[in-house]
Amino acid sequence: MLDIVILAAGKGTRMRSVKPKVMQTIAGKPMLHHVVDTARPLLGENRHPIVVVGFGKELVLGSFAPGDITAVEQTEQLGTGHAVAQALPELNDDSTALILYGDVPLIQTQTLQALMDQSAGDSLAVLTVNLPNPTGYGRIVRDSNQNITAIVEQKDATAEQRQITEINTGIMAVPVRLLKKWLPELSSDNAQGEYYLTDIIARASAEGVAVNSAQPEHLWEVEGVNDRRQQAALERAYQTFNAERLLAEGVMLADPMRFDCRAKLTLGRDIEIDINVVLEGEVALGDGVTIGPNCVIRNSTLAVGTRVEANSLIDGATVAEKCVIGPFARLRPGTQLQKEAKVGNFVEIKKSVIGVGSKVNHLSYIGDCTMGSGVNVGAGTITCNYDGVNKFRTEIGDNSFIGSNSALVAPVVLAEGTTVGAGSTITRATQTDDLAIARAKQRNIVGWQRPTKK
Ligand code: UD1
Ligand code: CA
Repeated sequence: MLDIVILAAGKGTRMRSVKPKVMQTIAGKPMLHHVVDTARPLLGENRHPIVVVGFGKELVLGSFAPGDITAVEQTEQLGTGHAVAQALPELNDDSTALILYGDVPLIQTQTLQALMDQSAGDSLAVLTVNLPNPTGYGRIVRDSNQNITAIVEQKDATAEQRQITEINTGIMAVPVRLLKKWLPELSSDNAQGEYYLTDIIARASAEGVAVNSAQPEHLWEVEGVNDRRQQAALERAYQTFNAERLLAEGVMLADPMRFDCRAKLTLGRDIEIDINVVLEGEVALGDGVTIGPNCVIRNSTLAVGTRVEANSLIDGATVAEKCVIGPFARLRPGTQLQKEAKVGNFVEIKKSVIGVGSKVNHLSYIGDCTMGSGVNVGAGTITCNYDGVNKFRTEIGDNSFIGSNSALVAPVVLAEGTTVGAGSTITRATQTDDLAIARAKQRNIVGWQRPTKK
């Protein structure tokens, strides 16, 4: 059996933030959630990772659904050994504990699997890497047979030990039975006055318990975040890796270095994404969807063959097949475009249905509106949906034609086939096929004399 312990009690002073460090994000998701999501598939059904919380624990716990994790509190940060000891009451005696870190967000499931394979039987397994510059890390000490005999922290290491380039990533797998025996006996008699988790390695070696090691496939998997520079570096590592995975899956990215995915994606085939596109939340793109440069798409579904032109922002929208959006369009939450609808430049749409083949091509605001099919909305049309307190709906029937620069004052219902004269302010319902015109009559003054300069 496996138990997972994630250390997440630290403050992260160098982030210079009011948030606890593990709540800082990579690809829009808190680092701790990356670790929990990676670890969870290793656990059986109905079992949860144990998270050691401390600084900002309310914020950390509030970010999970009830029962998603088991939390234990470390009120004082007395070292990694002390932190793991707080979780002991939650651990099963016949389990192996996998120890992870909330600020080492990009560890991959297959690396953890490889580490677990090394802890078979009653042995320990440590995830290590070789670094050209190992300064600051705990060093892996091996004997002449290459057996691991200890981990020595930088501050406690001899000059000779500091030459060792194999370092402790911190991630390890340890039989719970042994943790329960060794952790209460740790001493803080060392350079940092801390209870070091790493001291159990020398204990294991002394008691003849095998200590094995495994290595991650990528270095960024075991890199931690202590400051904004490291956070930004890991963000790039994540984005590069993710973009390469999408390319391998057949997505066309004009430039993988200028693509940022912070979303959970569902993708069809032959999707083309131009430069500087940001995807957020949950995004589903159907076959043949193309996205122009500088677009942001958040929590939206775009069906087969839809084209998004440059500089559009699509948020909380459901878009049917073969729609055309943008350039410079803004779709806000609750927007629903039906098949072959067109939304053009400088058009904002909110909580509205745009019917099949309807067009809102230029400079309009459509909010709280139900628009039928085959409607043509002229440039500069505004649905006046708000009286300063309440919002009201506008209904526009099939095949209506709204002349340019019209204001439709809600609540108002335009029947099928309505024509609105340009420049009208519409406040009353129409009947089928009416022409509604509501503007001052034009007056021509014959022989008008222009003023002259005195
Ligand atoms: C630790 C390891 C070191 C390893 C390095 C890798 C020990 C003694 N040393 O050193 O061998 O090379 O990680 O980065 O384990 N934490 C708590 N409560 C505590 C102490 C720490 O939750 O009381 C958390 C921290 O928030 C952090 C992690 O554990 O996420 C590591 O602690 P840190 O003090 O940074 O350990 P290092 O000195 O980096
Ligand atoms: Ca550290």
